[in-house]
Amino acid sequence: MWGELESIGRHAGSGGYRRFAWTGADTDCRAWFRAQAEARGLTLELDRNGNQWAWLGDPAAGDAVVTGSHLDSVPDGGAFDGPLGVVSSFAALDELRGRNARFTKPLAIVNFGDEEGARFGLACVGSRLTAGELTVEQAHRLTDADGITLPQAMEAAGHDPDAIGADPERLGRIGAFVELHVEQGRALDLTGDRVGVASAIWPHGRWRFDFRGEANHAGTTRLMDRRDPMLSYAETVLAARREAQLAGAVATFGKISVEPNGVNAIPSLVRGWLDSRAADQATLDTVVHGIEKAAREYADAHGIHLDVVRESFTPVVEFEHALRDEIARLLGKEDGGKSAHLNVPVLGTGAGHDAGILSGSIPTAMLFVRNPTGVSHSPAEYAAEDDCVAGVTALADVLEGLACK
Ligand code: GLV
Ligand code: MN
Ligand code: MN
Repeated sequence: MWGELESIGRHAGSGGYRRFAWTGADTDCRAWFRAQAEARGLTLELDRNGNQWAWLGDPAAGDAVVTGSHLDSVPDGGAFDGPLGVVSSFAALDELRGRNARFTKPLAIVNFGDEEGARFGLACVGSRLTAGELTVEQAHRLTDADGITLPQAMEAAGHDPDAIGADPERLGRIGAFVELHVEQGRALDLTGDRVGVASAIWPHGRWRFDFRGEANHAGTTRLMDRRDPMLSYAETVLAARREAQLAGAVATFGKISVEPNGVNAIPSLVRGWLDSRAADQATLDTVVHGIEKAAREYADAHGIHLDVVRESFTPVVEFEHALRDEIARLLGKEDGGKSAHLNVPVLGTGAGHDAGILSGSIPTAMLFVRNPTGVSHSPAEYAAEDDCVAGVTALADVLEGLACK
């Protein structure tokens, strides 16, 4: 499976993946998913929001056990964030068939569309729409950097944008969703464990800061006469670091656009996107307010007009305890289940996931596979083959425990 995915959307220069929603690379990933489903005799469904489902058993029977993740990527992403969950799901099904497992519940493997939000700026569009966390009107307003709207991009890729919307009936058929993911930190490396279970996802959001000044000549405009929005932006980036450090949170300006973007012109507009996350809502609010306050002070001092727009927000997610504990018990089986809770590390994370979005509608849980460097959202993202295999075995144990009892 990895061999087939390896070249899809890979940039020759960076070695990273550029698998953005509703592009050619995304279409190729979807074709791969379809082929995997067909090779296993699974029934493929494309839902109204463009998520792919591969079913074993009758979806209408209800109380289904669902696993999977996403195949899209951030700009120059790694191989594992998303695909590890999908590949491991197919491999876990193969493992269960090898064990002659008898399924008593329907099982599905899912590929959620547009998890990273790299193209339209909002993460988890496929699962948010399905869960009713994103309205059709909001989705129709999403636009990429070239001015192409989400409906236009969907249509160009052959998907009907008028069909999108909440899908409570589909979610109502699911008893549990378990997403396996590469860890995006080093907690498992530090404890020496191959696999862990998720406890919670930090609240997180994205804010757009528009600093508007005055375009002018870089050679002839005296420093005292300038209204340069880049200065206010730069000072805001430093303020973000300070506020995050003070609060024990994180804050990142990782994307910027500049107009007119000429080397010999003072900019008229600097647009920077803030991503900030913290362990709790109050801390996150404090950090973001602190950054915005500093930005306004700097902007006022330099004659800059500032607009701040919250583009997305995901509240804290506490994964359902009953499912999490059941999974910890299933993974402790080799010890007779006695010390299960001690054997499986339970980790929080600052990364967003479809499992977090769906947790408001259905019981969800996550498994993490060790990442020896913790690096993610980068071509350097890595998980060792042995650890990936341990992840597949763990996922198979969990699915067997949930769907074959
Ligand atoms: C998704 O990976 C996110 O946490 O931004
Ligand atoms: Mn990611
Ligand atoms: Mn991911």
